[in-house]
Amino acid sequence: MREPYVFPMSESPFSPDVPPLERRRRMLEVGADVVTDEMGAVVDFLSEDDVEGVLNDPRFASVAMPTLQLSGIDESSPVWRLWTHLMFAKNAEEHRRIRNVVAREFGPRRVDRFRPGIEQAADELLGDFPADAPFDLWERFAYPFAARVACELVGIPPEDALRAAGWAFDLARAFFPFMSPERVSRAERSAIEICAYIDDLLDQRRDEPRDDLVTMLTSDEVTASLSPDEVRALAANMIFAGLEATAKGVCTGVYFLVEHGQLARLADEPELVPTAVLETLRFSPPAQSVARFTPEDMVCQDVALRAGQVASANIVAASRDPDRYADPDTLDIERPPGKQLAFGAGAHYCLGANLAKLGLGIAFERLAGRYPTLELTEAEPRWDYEGFAGIVELQVRAG
Ligand code: HEM
Repeated sequence: MREPYVFPMSESPFSPDVPPLERRRRMLEVGADVVTDEMGAVVDFLSEDDVEGVLNDPRFASVAMPTLQLSGIDESSPVWRLWTHLMFAKNAEEHRRIRNVVAREFGPRRVDRFRPGIEQAADELLGDFPADAPFDLWERFAYPFAARVACELVGIPPEDALRAAGWAFDLARAFFPFMSPERVSRAERSAIEICAYIDDLLDQRRDEPRDDLVTMLTSDEVTASLSPDEVRALAANMIFAGLEATAKGVCTGVYFLVEHGQLARLADEPELVPTAVLETLRFSPPAQSVARFTPEDMVCQDVALRAGQVASANIVAASRDPDRYADPDTLDIERPPGKQLAFGAGAHYCLGANLAKLGLGIAFERLAGRYPTLELTEAEPRWDYEGFAGIVELQVRAG
């Protein structure tokens, strides 16, 4: 049996008051494959093999609702009422029942129908970069672009994109524990607003059907297997599940491509875009780790876990596992795709992975084609690790 490395409580990386970067440093520094602390609430798995093993193990359960409780959110909250219906919060058969309703909409061929709309969004946003002054790529491109991708998916008019993005950023924070009271109230307000917006949208599509996901969710086939609350939650989930991760993936990816002199290369060799997308996500995964709840005493990956413990799959560490990746700290846009752990694994593998890859690919390709000499400025990028991890301010020059 493998024994985790145990941190003394005074140095525990799992205490809520340890900043995320410090948490990451402590976990990586000890050089162990599995770590915990003296309290043992969380057991963190760091190798690619273990992360895959944990995420593919059907005995674990979702941490969605216990995570809300760690932010002081209970059944009386609108966030709780929305969360109880999310596929992410469900296990086994219940999870499949909800996920299967939309799963076929996310296959690689099927998501390609969004390509023209996403390309148009990219071209519109890239059209008006200032020629001679630095500007923030996050504000001008990454954030509104990710919002437009979500609108394309759901069937929301582009003029509502930024409103949808505001809700998405407030709500996605609730996937992670220890929200401040201010964050909780923002998430609660957004839960109420997004549900009202979705109800209106569903009504509109019932009256005037279109070829979009919301219309599909009003069909008899869907309403036969999902309750009205589940339909509303599923539609809302399509807006907030991936918007923040996509925005941060675009901005952070562009930063590393430019920093490593690879953006211009994508202009000359666009066939490298798909591997460049996967490599930037490996290099800096927006979902740093994902967690699972241990419902009963069990052994996983030869590690004994007690009922009530949280198993954490450390995607950052696994994505740079030296046993799986040669020169893991080098960005190599020709690297053969590995396991793509940035999207998780197993039953809860990211439903939107093909859409995210399409979106990031279009963002990189269009940006490289139009601004191959895009430059970073002296200003340090601003990173945000509070929810999904990534750059949220990036001063650049069009070059
Ligand atoms: C770069 C962008 C993205 C990244 C890095 C990402 C990452 C992830 C990860 C790691 C998970 C697994 C969570 C877990 O196992 O606990 C996940 C789940 C999920 N993602 Fe994404 N995601 C992205 C974009 C998207 C997009 C665009 C959508 C659009 C709908 C989306 C929808 C979902 C959904 C619905 C789940 C829950 C799946 C389930 O519980 O069965 N994601 N994502």
